[in-house]
Amino acid sequence: MKNQGNPYIPHTATIVDTWYETGGERCIKTFKVVFDDPAVRESWSHRPGQCAMIGVLGVGESMISISSSPTEEGYLRFSVMKAGKVTTALHQLEAGDKMTVRGPYGNSFPVEEWKGKKILTIGGGIGQAPLRPIVEYVKANMKDYAGLTMIYGARTSGDLCFKNEFAEAAKCEGVCCHLSIDVAEEGWPHYVGFVPSLLMEVSPSPENTIAITCGPPIMIRFVLENLKKLNFADEQIYTTLENRMKCGIGKCGRCNAGHLYVCKDGPVFSYAQLKNVPEAFA
Ligand SMILES: Cc1cc2nc3c(=O)[nH]c(=O)nc-3n(C[C@H](O)[C@H](O)[C@H](O)COP(=O)(O)OP(=O)(O)OC[C@H]3O[C@@H](n4cnc5c(N)ncnc54)[C@H](O)[C@@H]3O)c2cc1C
Ligand code: FES
Repeated sequence: MKNQGNPYIPHTATIVDTWYETGGERCIKTFKVVFDDPAVRESWSHRPGQCAMIGVLGVGESMISISSSPTEEGYLRFSVMKAGKVTTALHQLEAGDKMTVRGPYGNSFPVEEWKGKKILTIGGGIGQAPLRPIVEYVKANMKDYAGLTMIYGARTSGDLCFKNEFAEAAKCEGVCCHLSIDVAEEGWPHYVGFVPSLLMEVSPSPENTIAITCGPPIMIRFVLENLKKLNFADEQIYTTLENRMKCGIGKCGRCNAGHLYVCKDGPVFSYAQLKNVPEAFA
C-alpha cells in the first residue's frame, strides 16, 4: 500500500464536477474532487468502505463515506446529504471551488477475502453511498467474483441515488439490479414496497454469497431479519454504521454502539460482531 503520511492533516482539493442525485430539503449532492498537491494525488490510497473528513474552510468538517472505488483513479467522489451546518456549506460549493479532505479513516470491506463469491448489496437512500465503492470494485474485477446483485430502494423515484449507474450496471454480464420505491408512482416499472420486502421477493440463495447492507437503521434491522430467514450465516452479512462522531479517534465516546466504537472499530462490521449489540440498530 502507498504511504500517504499523516491522515489527520487536511489536504486541499478542487471540485471538478458536482451534480444533484436527489432534490428536496435533504437533497443529496455528489462532488468529484482532485487533490491540489500532485504528491498527495500520487500517494493517496483508500479501500472500499473507508471514509474521510471533508470540510469547508472557516465552517467545519463532516465524516463522509468515500463513494468512489480505488479502481476509479485520480479523483475521489463524495455524496453528501444536506443535514446541518457543514453539509449545507458543502452544498453551496460548485466546480472550481475548494474543499479540504483528510483521511482515509476506518476499516474497510474485505473485498479481497470475498474473491470467488457472489456479492449482494442491499441499500436504502443515502446508504447506497458506502456500497457504491464495492459495486464499482466488483464490476472492475468481475472475473474474480461469481456475480453481483444489487437491491436498492428509496422513498420515491426522485430519492434514488446513482440512477443512471444502475441502468448501466444492469447491462453488464453477471450483474443484476432490483430497484424499489415505497409508494406507487405512475410509470414506475420496478418494485413498489420496502427494501426488506424486495429482498424476500428476490430471495437470493445464501450459497457462496456475501450480503452487505447499509441504509436507515430500521431498514437494516428488517433486512438482517430477512437475511436470517433466507439462511444467511452471521459471517456472511456485513454492514457499515454511521453513528454521530466528534473526535474520530476513540477518545470522546460519542460514537459508541455498546462496547464498539464506530470510529475505532468500524465503520464496517460483520453481523457476527453486531448481533449481540442492540444499540447498533437503535
Ligand atoms: C462513517 C460515516 C460515514 C458517513 N457517510 C456519509 C455519506 O456518505 N453521506 C452523507 O451525507 N452523510 C454521511 N455521514 C453522516 C454525516 O457525517 C453527517 O450528516 C454530517 O456530519 C452532518 O453534519 P452537519 O454539520 O451538516 O450537521 P449537524 O447536524 O449540524 O452536525 C453537527 C455535528 O454532529 C455530527 N453529526 C451529525 N449528524 C451525524 C451523522 N449522521 N453521523 C455522524 N456525525 C454526525 C458531526 O460531527 C457534525 O459536525 C456519515 C457519517 C459517518 C459517521
Ligand atoms: S468519535 Fe470520539 S470515540 Fe468515536
